[in-house]
Amino acid sequence: MAASTQPDVMDKLVSLSKRRGFIFQSCEIYGGTGSVWDYGPLGVELKKNLKERWWASMVRMRDDVEGLDAAILMHPKTWEASGHVAGFTDPLVDCKVCKGRFRADRLEDARCPQKPSRQPGQHDACQLTEPRMFNLMFKTFMGPVEESASTVYLRPETAQGIFVNFLNVQQSARQKVPFGIAQIGKAFRNEITPGNFIFRTREFEQMEMQYFVEPGTDMEHFEQWKADRMAWHTSLGLSADRLQFHQHAAGELAHYARAAFDINFDFGGTLGFQEIEGIHNRGDFDLAQHQQFSGKKLEYYDQQANKRYLPYVIETSVGADRTTLAVLVNGYREEAVAGEDEGRVVLGLHPALAPIKAAVFPLTKKDGQPEMATKLADELRRFVAADYDATGSIGKRYRRQDEVGTPFCVTIDSESAADQSVTIRERDSLAQVRVALDQVRTWVQDRITA
Ligand code: GAP
Repeated sequence: MAASTQPDVMDKLVSLSKRRGFIFQSCEIYGGTGSVWDYGPLGVELKKNLKERWWASMVRMRDDVEGLDAAILMHPKTWEASGHVAGFTDPLVDCKVCKGRFRADRLEDARCPQKPSRQPGQHDACQLTEPRMFNLMFKTFMGPVEESASTVYLRPETAQGIFVNFLNVQQSARQKVPFGIAQIGKAFRNEITPGNFIFRTREFEQMEMQYFVEPGTDMEHFEQWKADRMAWHTSLGLSADRLQFHQHAAGELAHYARAAFDINFDFGGTLGFQEIEGIHNRGDFDLAQHQQFSGKKLEYYDQQANKRYLPYVIETSVGADRTTLAVLVNGYREEAVAGEDEGRVVLGLHPALAPIKAAVFPLTKKDGQPEMATKLADELRRFVAADYDATGSIGKRYRRQDEVGTPFCVTIDSESAADQSVTIRERDSLAQVRVALDQVRTWVQDRITA
């Protein structure tokens, strides 16, 4: 995997996210919940926009993919069939001296809490236990009695909700193979070494699509999905030089996978290139397992060819939180501003993802400017996320919007009432244009949908 050439902006993003209301540590007033995060007013808009963009491209704009919203709590047999009860484990080692807990297969990425900072096991005093396997699924109980018969799991991936509904969707939507089922939803993993802000957390959202194909045509669909998914990531504005494919070698493949590629993004600093999406050829592993464990036939009937078969599955699985982090890391920059002492912090977010699309300012608090600006902001709000700000100098107001990625700032000035026009300033180029008041809404909308 290529080393990163990008700066480490993670600490700056954590602080900006809290200060401006993107992301907060969960239950901070109680000291925080380990590796669980809450999205604040701007963060929830950003993540919603990202999910909306995925849903539009995967479901709404295609007639061969159907949407689904399956429950988080599933029949416990699901997880026996999927292989998660037996195999969704990480090897864990404890240090008897420092009480640290590490993934045995990732010791080189971990640091012992003893000083000087070294890999666990490399201090003379380290006493690492033998690795033991630790299942990553969260267990809970259904019903009032905590007994094994009522054990259920919080789903560790959304995919299984799609497999168990394969025939329901195919038959109700009258789809023919090849076709796909897509959903967005929460997944839970009791990760041993979570961290790096929202990169690896214990509760996260996945956006998954399973594409059911005739065996023998699987690799051709696999290649197509690889290309489509990479194109989607670049369409978010992620720089092409920060994205690359990583092919899983034979020993790295998950138990279900016949072939797998990750799309890796360069998060900068020590994290470097890391997976944001997995594209897997799962063969008929899942449908065959569910057919066996449920005793229900899950074969597809191809009427034209008059044959029955279990389709193969090409899966695309992307983390909503991890991609949100990629978008933030990719967009963060600090730059000097000509003619000003203070530089500016900019989140160069794609306008479609930006939490606020347009901010409206009255230049002064006189001449009816605040009233005009409020009216315009209210009109814009019916169509796009808009903000109104009348506090502080115009420069300060620009900086506040730059820092949260607002692509367009609209100023009502002393001429506006007379000529019924406003000045729109573009976040990245700093270019300013005069636009007729009644054209502002379409002007903004035209520039955020691309
Ligand atoms: N159904 C296949 C599957 O779940 P995965 O590679 O384990 O595959 C897919 O997960 C994506 O989900 C990852 O590429 C990542 O974006 C996201 N993801 C997985 N574990 C995560 C975690 N602990 N925190 C945040 N995102 C995670």
